[in-house]
Amino acid sequence: MTAHTAIKNTRKAEHPIHAQFTARFSPRGFTEKTLTEAELLPLFEAARWAPSSSNHQPWRFAYGLRGDAAFGKIAEALVPFNRAWAEKAAALIVVASRETVEKDGKQVPNAAHSFDAGTAWGYLALQAHHAGLVAHAMGGFEADVLAKNLKLPDGYALHCVVAVGEHGDIEKLPEALQAREAPNDRLPLAQIVAHGKFV
Ligand SMILES: Cc1cc2nc3c(=O)[nH]c(=O)nc-3n(C[C@H](O)[C@H](O)[C@H](O)COP(=O)(O)O)c2cc1C
Repeated sequence: MTAHTAIKNTRKAEHPIHAQFTARFSPRGFTEKTLTEAELLPLFEAARWAPSSSNHQPWRFAYGLRGDAAFGKIAEALVPFNRAWAEKAAALIVVASRETVEKDGKQVPNAAHSFDAGTAWGYLALQAHHAGLVAHAMGGFEADVLAKNLKLPDGYALHCVVAVGEHGDIEKLPEALQAREAPNDRLPLAQIVAHGKFV
């Protein structure tokens, strides 16, 4: 039995929503399964269709497949806690965005670049879920190492590294991580939304 069939999802939505939103979560255990580019590219395809300010599409992605040089360059930049589990993933994806857009022949700041890259990552994560994969974002990486290893162009901001693969057996994880390998909860809706004001 694999972890995703054994793990109990106790998430309860307060209002009726599509099951994808509570079924997706960010586990840390992966099977040995590798991913081909044909299996990975649909994730970027989903991200490509995210909305963005003036349709600028500032998101940029770089990826490595486990065993190749790019994967090693990305894994090297992860903080040790993340590296320990994420280097077993089938793919590592770096999410970045272009900070400027061209206007009247000049580069001007795009205030929405991070917001839009976040939307794209959300689409990517949901597409992974629909493809029977898991995607786990990580902010724990050394930005200078990652920028150097991937020759990040000037004017690009790094946001996160995403570990992608097939969800593995919980027993293969170190004990400390086993306890965290379950869908977590969310703040009640009343703590994040109010009519005509912020809470
Ligand atoms: C931008 C971002 C950075 C994150 N950084 C890390 C990280 O460095 N290490 C980690 O194990 N999880 C990381 N996470 C995963 C979050 O802890 C996780 O998404 C959150 O607890 C909600 O859980 P869920 O994704 O399972 O619903 C990160 C998630 C996001 C979106």
